[in-house]
Amino acid sequence: MSQTAKTYPPSAEMAASAHVDAAKYDAMYAASIADPDAFWKEQGARVDWMTPFTQVKDVDYTLGSVKINWYADGTLNASANCIDRHLEKRGDQTAIIFEPDNPEEDAQHITYKELHAKTCKMANILKDLGVTRGDRVVIYLPMIPEAAYAMLACARIGAIHSIVFAGFSPDALAARVNGSEAKVVITADHAPRGGRSTPLKTNADQALLHCDDSVKCLVVKRTGGQTTWVDGRDFDYNALVEGASADCAPEAMGAEDPLFILYTSGSTGQPKGVVHTTGGYMVYASMTHEITFDYKDGDVFWCTADVGWVTGHSYIVYGPLANGATTIMFEGVPTFPDASRFWQVCEKHKVNQFYTAPTAIRALMGKGDDFVKKADLSSLRVLGTVGEPINPEAWNWYNDVVGGGRCPIVDTWWQTETGGHLMTPLPGAHAMKPGSAMKPFFGIQPVVLEPTSAEQLEGNPVEGVLCIADSWPGQMRTIWGDHERFEKTYFSDYPGYYFTGDGCKRDEDGDYWITGRVDDVINVSGHRMGTAEVESALVAHAKVAEAAVVGYPHEIKGQGIYCYVTLMGGEEPTDELRLELRNWVRTEIGPIASPDLIQWAPGLPKTRSGKIMRRILRKIAENDHSTLGDTSTLADPSVVDDLIENRMNR
Ligand code: WT7
Repeated sequence: MSQTAKTYPPSAEMAASAHVDAAKYDAMYAASIADPDAFWKEQGARVDWMTPFTQVKDVDYTLGSVKINWYADGTLNASANCIDRHLEKRGDQTAIIFEPDNPEEDAQHITYKELHAKTCKMANILKDLGVTRGDRVVIYLPMIPEAAYAMLACARIGAIHSIVFAGFSPDALAARVNGSEAKVVITADHAPRGGRSTPLKTNADQALLHCDDSVKCLVVKRTGGQTTWVDGRDFDYNALVEGASADCAPEAMGAEDPLFILYTSGSTGQPKGVVHTTGGYMVYASMTHEITFDYKDGDVFWCTADVGWVTGHSYIVYGPLANGATTIMFEGVPTFPDASRFWQVCEKHKVNQFYTAPTAIRALMGKGDDFVKKADLSSLRVLGTVGEPINPEAWNWYNDVVGGGRCPIVDTWWQTETGGHLMTPLPGAHAMKPGSAMKPFFGIQPVVLEPTSAEQLEGNPVEGVLCIADSWPGQMRTIWGDHERFEKTYFSDYPGYYFTGDGCKRDEDGDYWITGRVDDVINVSGHRMGTAEVESALVAHAKVAEAAVVGYPHEIKGQGIYCYVTLMGGEEPTDELRLELRNWVRTEIGPIASPDLIQWAPGLPKTRSGKIMRRILRKIAENDHSTLGDTSTLADPSVVDDLIENRMNR
């Protein structure tokens, strides 16, 4: 396998100083598999418990009775673990550095003491709005410190937060408010990003028209820009915070009480509400943050994700704060005011660990090395990537130009469902291979299965679908309100295993390479998108009769969104209509779902039973139509010729 040609072993210094070196990894990994109960019992001590647990793992993957419990009889509070327990030792240490969109605006340094006061105030405001233990609160905020206060305030009083990425549309927001039956939506007036501003409150107003009248809206002032106000429904955070008490005792939550719901795309229909609970999630987020990034006391950690994604939950808020770190919240984008912004921020705040997505690396690589070279990046020690496979060219640039060849790159493979990293090289332990997620984290047992027979493929090298045998503490517990869908999605195709939805290769050295999704989920700029969601948005347009959506390779985004659209009889296929459909999808779902290419399709390739043959559509979108495979089962093979003839990607 040519991919394994060049490897990058850790420097002697890194191997000697890291939490985990090669020998320790092997020993700890073996121990974690041999006796998971003993291993995770010990790790359970990373968090402070109000009632100590006596049970560790209680898991059943049997279809029809799937249950996942960790530390079930313990009680704890996630907010107390992220704040209160650090107050004595590091009350005056910076917990959060807020770096605003506009570099002219001052950064804020929020100490653990201040974080405590702000979180308690927010918690008391929520209580006054009627939020109690078990209630849901939707957070629709920009990347501002109040987003972290809101998360931790919910955790403090036992409310379940569900963050909706601020780039999502009013419709998407309404669906999530209704799906989780939230009592309160927390939003801001406007969200500055990349020098532009999104009217978040206006979006929330539109969404709330489609929600129950009892839903309240707590509004944080970010820009002071214009908003409309509904008396009795809208509440002014900045006014209320003045009078709110800075004390709020943390609730003792059961380890298996939900901490948050996060909606994510699946291969069918509506996004699903992934549920994470408290005890196991906190243990896993804290451990992976410390070990994967070789985080040490005093380090400044920067994950560039948005708190609207799981990466922001685990590696901006819960993991770093549980470990008493200084974590950066960045409101902006990599290219504003110019392509040196990331590196300027690294220099300014002396960042030690930097964690971003391949799509950002590719975009910045395209702007040239000068933007990187003008910044002093000597504080960087470990680099990380997440969200999609990284191509070797981008990996090499990240390694050479950003890391100066000194910084190991942890290519972390995981999912919203997994709560934290499942596979990654460790900085002091593994000889990295560009593009490989390398090794399982402690307690993780990856298996590669033959897709149709579900037979486990032994030996190396092999390629197939990636499943995980057995559980880990950070695993999702259910889909909100639909445990049956949970079982069906993750435990029915490959009985006895957690099915990841990804394909993978294990090379001759036993290292893992993620090859991408094997279902109808695509990965656009590291954001997960169900092709079915884009299709249903398209067919909701009056002029569209039918639509089929597939991914295709895109230089910057990893995958682009390719739409085949059949119009209603009599509609003209014009460029204006293309634009209209593009904007339509943006308003239905959000800008991240913008179609890249729309091809007019007089007909779609279907089997005689009416099933769309996506394999063919994928090939055409990839501009790889020379080998379409067997098309003899098509009802009308001639539609394929038309689609090839008029393909958009050439
Ligand atoms: C899907 C999960 C987990 C945080 C970000 C995305 C893909 C994720 C990698 C990686 C190759 C990756 C997978 C996975 N993915 N990380 N390092 N290498 N692929 O979370 O939105 O839940 O998406 O992202 O396909 O299944 P998500």
